[in-house]
Amino acid sequence: MRRIQIFDTTLRDGEQSPGVALHHGQKLEIAHQLAHLGVDVIEAGFPISSPGDAEGVARIAREVRGVTIAALARAAKTDIEVAARALEAAEHGRIHVFIATSPIHMAKKLQLSPEAVIDRAVQAVTLAKQLAAEVEFSAEDASRSELDFLIQIFRAAAQAGASVLNAPDTVGYATPREYGELIGRLCAALPESTLSAHCHDDLGLAVANSLAAIEAGAGQLECTVNGIGERAGNASLEEIVMALHTRRDSYPMETGVNTRELYRSSRLVSRLTGMLVQPNKAVVGDNAFAHESGIHQDGVIKARETYEIMNADLVGREAAVLVLGKHSGRAAFRKAVVELGYNLSEERIAELFGRFKDLADRKGQIHSEDLRALIDAESEVPQHFVLESLQVLSGTHVTPMATVRLRTPQGIRQAAATGDGPVEATFLAISQLSELELELEAYRIQSVTRGGDALGEVSVTARHRGALVSGIGLATDVVEASARAWIQALNQVVGGSRSLRPAEPTP
Ligand code: KIV
Ligand code: ZN
Repeated sequence: MRRIQIFDTTLRDGEQSPGVALHHGQKLEIAHQLAHLGVDVIEAGFPISSPGDAEGVARIAREVRGVTIAALARAAKTDIEVAARALEAAEHGRIHVFIATSPIHMAKKLQLSPEAVIDRAVQAVTLAKQLAAEVEFSAEDASRSELDFLIQIFRAAAQAGASVLNAPDTVGYATPREYGELIGRLCAALPESTLSAHCHDDLGLAVANSLAAIEAGAGQLECTVNGIGERAGNASLEEIVMALHTRRDSYPMETGVNTRELYRSSRLVSRLTGMLVQPNKAVVGDNAFAHESGIHQDGVIKARETYEIMNADLVGREAAVLVLGKHSGRAAFRKAVVELGYNLSEERIAELFGRFKDLADRKGQIHSEDLRALIDAESEVPQHFVLESLQVLSGTHVTPMATVRLRTPQGIRQAAATGDGPVEATFLAISQLSELELELEAYRIQSVTRGGDALGEVSVTARHRGALVSGIGLATDVVEASARAWIQALNQVVGGSRSLRPAEPTP
């Protein structure tokens, strides 16, 4: 069986999704989960884009083991040096150098001749090879580049030290037949190198193109959890992995991914990025294993295989199991946390236990999904501001008003504010207390499980002096969940761990 390398770029290309801003703790949490999932390479970020991103990559390089950590760099000296510094502590580091190779990108964006582009690529790969264990070279917009030129630049990059050559369909334009042919020709021309596919989903063809690429000989696929990424996103990791697993007859290849971790990875990425998964999304969507029509239900009861080509257990979708109640003690709580696969310090367990008790008191039963949401929502953000209490007045014919008590470094403080609605009033009162300017960019709300007693989960993305921060809040009351999300975003600002959006245009 051919082994296909899975290069996950959720934390780099995925984080370039509009409105997504992950702080270090969240990036690290996702990176640990990706390692646990069994990907071969984690592209942790684009260090030159901001000091925050460089720090995020460095932290992942220091703390995540057993997997290659990659950092993106343009074909420029400073980019490569900054990427190399961020990767210093990695067990196995890879600098991912890229430059555009299509006529339109070279002429309009780079304003460089093809010869100058080759020179830059060679200089960049040569430097990167001196500073990292491994170098990957990407020819941005490869699918719209001239084949002979692509072969020429790839040969030069390979000679300079790049062992992985990536041919991205940057704008999601290729069809599976075209992309497969391109990869096939590149593999024939560069038999010593690993060819990699990186497909965007502008025409909804990213997964099909990735599969065409491995049929044609590619040894590495670049993808993201839930298919998040620039514009319409990247090829979805879970769809690729399950296509290979389910259709081994067509694709006699394997990956190192533990399929049972797919659902958990999807939920984690969705929660922390605030990007909801569409219900009908293959493999991880809410409806992916749900049968509505009577004929289908009848068939599945008689023999699951009548309408299901994959087993839900295989992707880690266990039913919402009751794990705890309001009388559960700390030992039971700790056991449930471990059973869900989390490895948390005693200090974190103690912090979470308080919140768990609070939720269990109000909700009664806490299911595995609730517990996961709680752990993910209460991720490692310094607690400069803590919600003490919230009172909200709202309804028809009244001006919505919120009164908030907050624990701040200066002690307990209280403020009240009015707004167009209870959420706005709450945000204004909290912002007043924090004395920080925060402008709301995106607000999303969803229920964690189904049913009337489900927990409400709110995620916000906000802007502070040009930087994006995000927060997640969980509560039985959605206004309280909103308050918690806003406070988490503020805590990120104070903690200074925000990942600033790059000032430079990103790839
Ligand atoms: O889509 C693209 O071309 C990229 C490269 C930087 C690999 O993301
Ligand atoms: Zn991309």
